[in-house]
Amino acid sequence: MDINNETIFVTGANRGLGLAFAREAVRRGAKSVYAGMRNTDGFDEPGIVPVRIDVTDPASVGAAAATAADTTILINNAGVAALIDNPLAADFEAQSKALFDVNFYGLARVTQAFEPGLSKHHHAAIINVLSDIVWLPRPYLTPYAASKAAAWSYTNQLRFHLAEPGIQVLGLHVGFLDTDLTNGIDVPKTSPVDVAIQTFDALAAKKSEIMADKGTVLLKSTLSDEVPGYITPPAGLY
Ligand SMILES: NC(=O)c1ccc[n+]([C@@H]2O[C@H](COP(=O)([O-])OP(=O)(O)OC[C@H]3O[C@@H](n4cnc5c(N)ncnc54)[C@H](OP(=O)(O)O)[C@@H]3O)[C@@H](O)[C@H]2O)c1
Repeated sequence: MDINNETIFVTGANRGLGLAFAREAVRRGAKSVYAGMRNTDGFDEPGIVPVRIDVTDPASVGAAAATAADTTILINNAGVAALIDNPLAADFEAQSKALFDVNFYGLARVTQAFEPGLSKHHHAAIINVLSDIVWLPRPYLTPYAASKAAAWSYTNQLRFHLAEPGIQVLGLHVGFLDTDLTNGIDVPKTSPVDVAIQTFDALAAKKSEIMADKGTVLLKSTLSDEVPGYITPPAGLY
């Protein structure tokens, strides 16, 4: 599905990857671009309409879906991360609940609210922003990894369920991006603009999944190995 002449709604679009998606949609000639964000104050970007949405708040999600009822491409981008000591840390449960509320339940809430509008169109799409972390052992990111793995699973069920009404569901997996989320982490990072471009190209090519950097491509390629990357990460990966 091409972006040109479509109506896009992106969650978490005031900064980072979400803003890169919104700007790239404008550049590709989208009819309307809604940028979902928790605080719309001072947001001023040519061709982009800010819409208030907190994905943890069902009332705000419902109001945003009503405001943007003409959406044909939903991008579930909003996400949060947190570092913990390890999977047995005392704050594991509290951090997991907070992260699941945004990264898993939030994604599902927004999808449920927008789906009736999407289904009314002859063609529509949902892009879910996932991560390479679903296949990567990083104990300090355990709550984040679990929430993204749950979102990956939801994406796979959703894709199958929505095949009949013809809604394209695209899962985006990517490693470290150069955004606020990875401030202070000193590793090579991919540009969010590059990821937005690759993702929209994959959508146009009718793909169901995209691995948006070399590390994620390498990691996924190990999944059927005798010792896959989620047991022993491939050499040279970050
Ligand atoms: N950065 C990476 O290395 C990386 C790698 C793989 C996947 N991802 C995923 O990419 C997506 C975008 O992340 P990013 O790197 O652009 O991070 P970011 O710069 O920290 O942006 C996160 C965005 O999510 C929004 N958000 C957080 N909680 C929200 C809520 N309850 N309701 C609505 N919006 C909320 C934030 O809004 P506020 O400004 O109000 O906080 C912000 O707009 C996330 O799903 C993330 O998990 C990132």
